[in-house]
Amino acid sequence: MRKKIVAGNWKMNMDYTSGLSLFSEVLNMVKDEVTGTQEVVVCAPFIHLQSLSQLAAQQSRVTIGAQNCHQAESGAYTGEISAAMLRSVGVSYVILGHSERRQYFGETDALLAEKVNVALKNNLKPIFCIGETLDERNSGKYFDVIKRQLGDGIFHLSDADFSKLVIAYEPVWAIGTGLTATPEQAQEVHAFIRKELAAKYGEAIANDTTILYGGSCNPKNAADLFSQADIDGGLIGGASLKSRDFTDIIKAFN
Ligand code: 13P
Repeated sequence: MRKKIVAGNWKMNMDYTSGLSLFSEVLNMVKDEVTGTQEVVVCAPFIHLQSLSQLAAQQSRVTIGAQNCHQAESGAYTGEISAAMLRSVGVSYVILGHSERRQYFGETDALLAEKVNVALKNNLKPIFCIGETLDERNSGKYFDVIKRQLGDGIFHLSDADFSKLVIAYEPVWAIGTGLTATPEQAQEVHAFIRKELAAKYGEAIANDTTILYGGSCNPKNAADLFSQADIDGGLIGGASLKSRDFTDIIKAFN
């Protein structure tokens, strides 16, 4: 049975104190209000990670993720963070391949394949993001884009490694725009992704892989999105910065 997950991606928001307050509120709300089996992941900036993992130790269903790591194990890469460093402060997940990293930092499928390898080697579970731009959607090329991102980014993995991965479908045109994909549009791509996984890794692994939706997900549209057969939760940007909205999205599974 695949895991249901709601993950928040704070991106480059929240100073240290505000981040700790937000996270404490989320922990309390999850404890008091959330029933069900879904896992909650908070992907925060590097400065928060150690403190958040200490706070999360009291709440077993909330885990911590980072938003990036470097592809090398260690070395002379000024300003970068390694997977082992993240693991050493209690981080469990790392977002890789977010469209903002692809777009603004030139991250290619080949580079992302290296990052996925180093993350897995250090016991971090990648949340691997894929998704098409508006042009790619309008020109009908979106299935080709998804297929390429899967093939070049993660299909080199062994069955055992692939089973540790979470996939997030985030159409670029829906991120931060308020233009959420309709549940049908999202389900169509999620079903396509699962079909590709089945062709490569077999039905059992495909059925066990968690596939999240991301892009303007909010408390109003979450329940409809999460009720789709192949949508196993969300990767939440803006709405994860408000404890009430984030908790309401988590509760959309109940
Ligand atoms: P928004 O929820 O702000 O659209 O961001 C989605 C996202 O990029 C999560 O990684």
